[in-house]
Amino acid sequence: MKQKHIASRMSGISPFYVMDLLAQAKRLESQGHDVIHLEVGEPDFPTPDLINAAAIDAIKSGKTKYTAATGLPELKAKISEYYKSRLGASVDAKNIIITPGASGALQLALSVLVNSNQNVLMADPGYPCNRHFVRLLDASARTIAVGAETDYQLNHELIEKNWQPDTAAVLIASPSNPTGTLIDAIEMQKIIDVVKQRKGVLLVDEIYQGLVYECADFSAAMLSSDVFVINSFSKFFSMTGWRLGWLVVPDDYIEPVDRLAQNLFLAPPSISQYAALSAFDNETLAILDARRVELNNRREFLLKGLQALGFVISVKPGGAFYIYADVSKFTKDSFQFCNDLLHESFVAVTPGIDFGEYKAKTHVRFAYTQNIEKLQLALDRISDFLTNYKH
Ligand SMILES: Cc1ncc(COP(=O)(O)O)c(C=O)c1O
Repeated sequence: MKQKHIASRMSGISPFYVMDLLAQAKRLESQGHDVIHLEVGEPDFPTPDLINAAAIDAIKSGKTKYTAATGLPELKAKISEYYKSRLGASVDAKNIIITPGASGALQLALSVLVNSNQNVLMADPGYPCNRHFVRLLDASARTIAVGAETDYQLNHELIEKNWQPDTAAVLIASPSNPTGTLIDAIEMQKIIDVVKQRKGVLLVDEIYQGLVYECADFSAAMLSSDVFVINSFSKFFSMTGWRLGWLVVPDDYIEPVDRLAQNLFLAPPSISQYAALSAFDNETLAILDARRVELNNRREFLLKGLQALGFVISVKPGGAFYIYADVSKFTKDSFQFCNDLLHESFVAVTPGIDFGEYKAKTHVRFAYTQNIEKLQLALDRISDFLTNYKH
């Protein structure tokens, strides 16, 4: 069938190359091969039991209807308490909007803030969906190449240099996907100030909050009440499939964000919200904190292993569960490299082109989402693969 009614904006929406790789990996698995998955951004940990049990209770007691568009008040209160007890941050429950994942939060915030023909500054490499959310608004992503010299992050100087009269907002993520690198509180404050001076809006994606390994965690919400903060139950809370996140919204924007949330989503998933009320119980938090320790062990293990094999990791990732590695020593085409690695050695990793254009063909992302035994096996296979690799 001819797809003659597809809107022209769809030409700006590129696929996730890793999904294609994942489909190939599944095919190989169905043929009996044992593929080690280091490509998708979700660890092997199950959702903690108390959260699962709360979901079952919610279903059994009929809590399966729409909630308020901006989410359950008791969940907002729990998130607010969590900011206070974990980070010492004052975030009022009224400023918290519950969303379908960080994805919903990003779409909601950008849609409220960005006019068509405006642009949003963001890092390349960066989380790819952001460019597409902006494209759907007939606005554009102004991607800025970032390298090891700025820890693969935007900083206030780059923002100043790239600001245009039609720039509406800046979107940053700390820790970042795909690099796992952080923006510290001093630099974050400078970024907040620069964006404020230019009368723009700053959005900070903190979806990997809680997964920071070498320094104290903080939130941009602690530095300014003008920032939009994006967060989620997907990563630290091990709830990817529950599709639940949140947005911290400055006072003046609560009403329009609520209005758009009503229209876009009606409500975030109710069962997931009732389940998430148990995400902040001490028993659950203890499990999640132990997982952070495990992820840190994996990080150190995989970093050392990859470096020993000749991968160049210019900045040690301080958070999330990703290692962004330079493979220029082995190939000029990291997409082909990932394909070959999958088909010859059954290890799946993500090619740089999923995250932008800058040096994308010479980088790949490893997600340390498997246990140390599997990581060791992956390293052994990669080692064999590299011995014979013709590029
Ligand atoms: C930086 C970043 N933001 C947002 C998302 C979307 O997450 P979710 O919608 O599952 O909360 C992801 C998912 O990997 C991500 O890496």
